[in-house]
Amino acid sequence: MTSSIEATAGDRAALKRTRTRPVKPPTLAVIGLGHVGLPTALGFAELGWEVVGADCDAEKANQIAGGQSPFFEPRLDDMLRRHLASGRFRVLRTVQDAVDEGKVLFVCVGTPQRTDGSADLSQVEAVARTIGRGLNGYKLIVEKSTSPVRTAEQIKRTIARYCNGNREFDVAVNPEFLREGTACADFFNPDRIVLGVESEHARSLLLEIYRPLLDRLSHRVGVGATNNGHVVVTDLKTAELIKQASNAFLATKISFINLMSDLCEATGADVGEVAHGLGLDPRIGAAFLRAGAGFGGYCLPKDLRTLIRVGEDHGVDVALLRAVDHINESRAERILKKVHQALWIIGGKTVGILGLAFKPGTDDIREAPSLKIISRLLEEGARLQVHDPKAIGNVTRHFSADTQGLVYCDSPYDAAHGANALLVLTEWDEYRALDLVRIRRLMDTPILIDARNLYEPALMRGHGFEYSSVGRP
Ligand code: UGA
Repeated sequence: MTSSIEATAGDRAALKRTRTRPVKPPTLAVIGLGHVGLPTALGFAELGWEVVGADCDAEKANQIAGGQSPFFEPRLDDMLRRHLASGRFRVLRTVQDAVDEGKVLFVCVGTPQRTDGSADLSQVEAVARTIGRGLNGYKLIVEKSTSPVRTAEQIKRTIARYCNGNREFDVAVNPEFLREGTACADFFNPDRIVLGVESEHARSLLLEIYRPLLDRLSHRVGVGATNNGHVVVTDLKTAELIKQASNAFLATKISFINLMSDLCEATGADVGEVAHGLGLDPRIGAAFLRAGAGFGGYCLPKDLRTLIRVGEDHGVDVALLRAVDHINESRAERILKKVHQALWIIGGKTVGILGLAFKPGTDDIREAPSLKIISRLLEEGARLQVHDPKAIGNVTRHFSADTQGLVYCDSPYDAAHGANALLVLTEWDEYRALDLVRIRRLMDTPILIDARNLYEPALMRGHGFEYSSVGRP
């Protein structure tokens, strides 16, 4: 396999063969139980596989073993409790134990960003060494963590170096496309399943593992026994690049619409309508054209920068990607400028902030625009009353306990109380349903800066707010 192809007749035949062949179901081991690993492990358990998991963070592993997810993700706690009870998901003490028990090992450890923009792959390397040393019969090692193209090559080299001559293993790449906040639903409704493989055995094992999911999807769309249209089988490097390209493309769409939103502000056009008109072209598509405070989270910013580094290392001109990053980096400034325009002097003013997570549906604040904006407003002497339905705990841990001027609120109304301005940074559904009359009455001066275009400008003005949003007149 040298090029990316949709599942072929050969794949379909392999899938059918795996349905009839009486084989002992392989135990799946998921190494790294974070935002990728835990939903993946539980998704496979739900599909009927026996899954073991391990994490080098013992405290996190214990918490999971006790039935509690270390982070908020809808449906996850319920799935966790059910599959701990059914015995289909077990948390093992060490990564070594998971390597011993698992036949197919999904590597889901973190690949954080280093200061130079490149990915820190030390956790991946450490797992590869452990796997190499612990090989006890054939294993399929599956890279699931988002890693720069050619990481699988290094995993293979590392395992080969440490495996003491036992070369019964394959390395495959099966990138995840789960979104935080909808990870469980995404697992069961994939747009595509990308399999980077180098051997027929690896391919049929992975197809077997995904077979229950593919069958479910087939039943849903009613296209007979199998639906391999979701499967892309390709080589390792192409699979890695599909993942990196996907996130970079999503980031590009967001920065593009944010650039358009600046143009709209400069000319008096409406970015919501521009996005609508653009998105109606099926070649462009409506998704990821919401202008706002920019993209955050653990994936888009990091994966974009990693791809920039990969391009630079290979002598490829990545000016386009750098521009995407630059536009995103300047979004916080853009929002701060709106606060300045509204309040003139920040020092001594009270600003309520609604939404701290990098997006709704999660408690994750990594690379959230809110962090930069909070720091800057505090530096300028504002008193901040902040609220988020899920992320307050993480924000409390992010800022030191003696941070002056930062007040954590239990409700959006508390955040609005006595405020000179209210700034919306995350589009949580509960903010859509606010009692605006009450909010207005609570505020000292009813200024609302909506960095996610959550409200209708005419409605807000009708409620007596001095209202500004992003890219709209
Ligand atoms: C992203 C990808 O969407 C997933 O497919 C991928 O699996 C995941 O990264 C990953 O690599 O693990 P995620 O980081 O959970 O998922 O969040 P997104 O839904 O992509 O949103 C990212 C950021 O873009 C958020 O801050 C969101 O507010 C922002 N965004 C999104 C916009 O500003 N405008 C939009 O139109 C869409």
